[in-house]
Order: sequence, then C-alpha cells, then structure tokens
Amino acid sequence: MIAIGCDQGGYELKQEVMKHLQERGLEYKDFGCYSDASVDYPEYGKAVAHAVAGGECERGILICGTGIGISIAANKVKGIRAALCTDCFMAEATRLHNDANILAMGGRVIGTGLALKIVDTFLDTPFSNEERHIRRISQLED
Ligand code: RB5
Repeated sequence: MIAIGCDQGGYELKQEVMKHLQERGLEYKDFGCYSDASVDYPEYGKAVAHAVAGGECERGILICGTGIGISIAANKVKGIRAALCTDCFMAEATRLHNDANILAMGGRVIGTGLALKIVDTFLDTPFSNEERHIRRISQLED
C-alpha cells in the first residue's frame, strides 16, 4: 500500500500520480488534501509519514508546490527518510543508497511526464543492501 498526500500546490499532480498508480494496479491510500483550496502542508506530510513509519503503508509519495516543506514535515517523523527528487537519477540513488521510504516532489517544479517517471523509478528500485549504506542509514537514527 502506498500512502499519498499533498497540499494545494501538489493537488493537480497528485491526481495524475494516483491515476498512474491505478493504471499500474498499485494500491494507494489518499491522505488528502482533497481540493486545490489552501491548506497547511505539515498536516499532510506528517499524516503520510505516520502511515509509513507505523507500517500501515510501505512507501509514501508527497507533493507540495516545491516538495520542500512537505518533505521537511515528513522527515520530522522517526524512521522516515523522505527524499525530494527532481529527476530519475535522484530517485534511483535515494532508493539504492538511502532506502528512502517517501518520495517528495514539487508540483510547481516538474511536469507530469517527468514526475511519473520519477514515481516509477522510486517504486521499482530496490535498496542496494550494501553494508556501507546500511551503516550510514543506521547513523541517521542516532
Ligand atoms: C504553498 O504555497 C507552498 O508554500 C507549498 O506548497 C510548498 O511549496 C512549501 O514548501
């Protein structure tokens, strides 16, 4: 199960991402927001982060205008490694190296085509499981 959330700046792109996940046959849970009316991104970043940290969902996708505020919010939750990605190289590397469990994107930064490729790369790339990366990730929790 994939947790997905956004603020008004990410609302439009989130609709496209949900359609894409549906087309791929992937289950998701939408934590809001549910319109393009102005809201506060920390609420949605934290809701998705808690769903992932608590084990209800395996991965998360968060979208705000820049992807910055909502990723900062998510990263306040213990066990969360939210990665703001603007290209596929970053999405692949953050899965391989950081075992990132939440992808953050900026709805006002990247177009839909690129965003969907980033989503696919993020979801389809496994963690490398290399010792040095496991060690570094464990140091994040110290
Ligand atoms: C909302 O206007 C905007 O601040 C938000 O979407 C995001 O970009 C914050 O980091």
